[in-house]
Amino acid sequence: MSRNLFDELLNAKSLFLDRRALGHAFTPESLPHRELEISVLVNNLVEALRGHSPSNMTLYGRPGSGKTAVTRFVCRDLEAKGAAEGSNVKTIEINCRNIDTKYRVLAQIGNHLSREGDAVIPFTGWPADRVFEHVRTRMERDPGVYIIILDEIDYLVRKGREGDDLLYCLTSLNIGLLKDSFCCVIGISNDLGFTEDLDPRVTSRLSPIDVVFSPYNANQLEDVLNPRAERGVVENGLDCAVIPLCAALAAKEDGDARRALDLLRISVQKAEQDSGGIVNIGHVRQAQSQLEFDQITPTIRNLPLQQKLVLFSVIINEKNGLRNISTGEVYGTYEMACLNAGERALTSRRVSSLIRELDMIGIVSAKTTSRGRHGMSKRINTSLPPGFDVLEIMRSSEPLMEPVINTRYRLQNRL
Ligand SMILES: Nc1ncnc2c1ncn2[C@@H]1O[C@H](COP(=O)(O)OP(=O)(O)OP(=O)(O)O)[C@@H](O)[C@H]1O
Ligand SMILES: [Mg+2]
Repeated sequence: MSRNLFDELLNAKSLFLDRRALGHAFTPESLPHRELEISVLVNNLVEALRGHSPSNMTLYGRPGSGKTAVTRFVCRDLEAKGAAEGSNVKTIEINCRNIDTKYRVLAQIGNHLSREGDAVIPFTGWPADRVFEHVRTRMERDPGVYIIILDEIDYLVRKGREGDDLLYCLTSLNIGLLKDSFCCVIGISNDLGFTEDLDPRVTSRLSPIDVVFSPYNANQLEDVLNPRAERGVVENGLDCAVIPLCAALAAKEDGDARRALDLLRISVQKAEQDSGGIVNIGHVRQAQSQLEFDQITPTIRNLPLQQKLVLFSVIINEKNGLRNISTGEVYGTYEMACLNAGERALTSRRVSSLIRELDMIGIVSAKTTSRGRHGMSKRINTSLPPGFDVLEIMRSSEPLMEPVINTRYRLQNRL
């Protein structure tokens, strides 16, 4: 019988015990180093079990600092306790990255509260007041405490009045609009400054309690990874240096637990593809490059042509052996590159600001240094992962870069 192409992989012993345990959606049994944040939520939300309204809250913190995980963790126990004690406590989680208008958020809440025979609130088309009235009456007919979690709320707040209007409506429910029920709003954001964009009346209603989630350090990330690895990876499947390295690398990336989990999961995949032996630090390095590659590729592909020309000019000088390239050196090459692309060259000042933008997104580093009485100058270097073929990405995403890349440049060498 002929061999099936999938046989080899299916018959190989997997290093994963439960791959989901290393995924983002998994809710672990404990959340190390978030005890304080959990207790602030619990101390406030316990009011719901006592039949009162908890205060509204705002949770802030860098990506991957555990905001969503902590909120789900606490709400899971809250609902379970409510069910056991016979108190009507409902939590409704909405991700404002996907549901990003006042209308859609209200419709989602309204539909979540619907019973058999209720009208389904359409995705669009009703006046917003009518949708809000359905939300109110559906909360009122079933007395209880309704906790509305608006995750990634900054997406909504960035859309001008949408955020203000929605938060104003929801926070009004407790001020006279509901008689027998309560509504509590928990906003979650990774932008500490997001309330600055809100109407001050809304800010004061929304944030009686602010909880700031600090980024994890490397030791804490090890404690986050260990139990998940125990559940997710076969016994003795990891070299003892793997988790410390994943934790240390992720700690450098703003202490992001998601990044640490990604590194670990991809390292295990790399080891499986490799030989089926145990996961070692080489696999973590490969996982790190892959993550960087996956992150940077779309950023470079989507750069506007002028940005690509500037980046190209830095790269071509580096390939010529220069480090700490000056703005003048970049500009000289850039002018030639524009000629080859058939583009008009921007002014040197404008190119300086494009370099600053490339620095901000982490593709180049541009440090300003003093040259004594010669004033200030920039030292520009790329900050791309080794072995990363940027020119190929620019060529395949922008036809005008083809002649730019194919031309040989006469570059100056420093004496
Ligand atoms: N203390 C922890 N213990 C175990 N896993 C954790 C812990 N903190 C975070 N995680 C895990 O890390 C991942 C990212 O966490 P989470 O989604 O809560 O971050 P976040 O702060 O909501 O980030 P974002 O701002 O990007 O939404 C999730 O898979 C979560 O389960
Ligand atoms: Mg989140």
